[in-house]
Amino acid sequence: RFHLSPKHVDFSFNGPFGKYDRQQLQRGFQVFKEVCASCHSLSLVAFRNLEEIGYNEAEVKAISNQWQIEVPSVDPKTGEASTRKGTPADHFPSPYLNEVAARAANNNALPPDLSLITKARHDGPAYVYSLLTGYRNPPADLPADSRPGEGLHYNPYFANLNIAMPPPLTGDGQVTYADGTKPTQDQVAKDISAFLAWTAEPRLENRHRAGLAVVLFLLFATVLSYLAYQNVWHTAK
Ligand code: HEM
Repeated sequence: RFHLSPKHVDFSFNGPFGKYDRQQLQRGFQVFKEVCASCHSLSLVAFRNLEEIGYNEAEVKAISNQWQIEVPSVDPKTGEASTRKGTPADHFPSPYLNEVAARAANNNALPPDLSLITKARHDGPAYVYSLLTGYRNPPADLPADSRPGEGLHYNPYFANLNIAMPPPLTGDGQVTYADGTKPTQDQVAKDISAFLAWTAEPRLENRHRAGLAVVLFLLFATVLSYLAYQNVWHTAK
């Protein structure tokens, strides 16, 4: 009764002719990097995949260098896990050493990998947008057993109403966009949602193109078969 379906959002990639807006994907990536990456990984995306959204090789290299990658060995002197600088071939790592560390930092909740989150939730991109902009005070008539407990936050778009993720978007102007777009909270939420749609389906545009070609071909084939039918049977009556 309190749970809400995702809001309607007009994304450029919606519908059979939809295409990603590269500028928006780059803004969304910036939000991921500056806000979400402190808790979430993108384990199915390699830094070099960012070339597909318009970064050049040097930029990708510089971006990958900003991340530290765990190496499967322990520093013999300190006993600590060792790391090296990221390269374009690495994937966006988890900011935590392992699940125990991740849960310890998040009130025992586990921040999921975001690569496929827009496929894992119904109406994914709109869901992420709604979730990010949906935090509010619990309604007065919410039963006591549905109220957010210690370390939980009320959000009617989240399946069980109370989510362990603290509101990651804190208002307008949280990031500064290079392309001059105004970073309102609403805009930032749309941009990161679009970016996560791309991480989950980087070939969406190919799929849309193929779908259109198939429909056009089927129309053409229908007309052709009708003409062939008339031709074959034109003497019979
Ligand atoms: C869960 C997105 C930033 C901690 C989630 C979920 C999404 C998400 C889509 C899954 C919700 C579901 O299961 O349906 C984002 C985005 C962020 C962001 C887009 C940046 C704008 C953060 C930050 C933290 C964090 C900075 C840590 C302070 C968590 C945790 C969960 C979670 C702990 C699990 C919640 C639960 O199961 O109750 N996030 N997140 N997130 N996120 Fe984030």
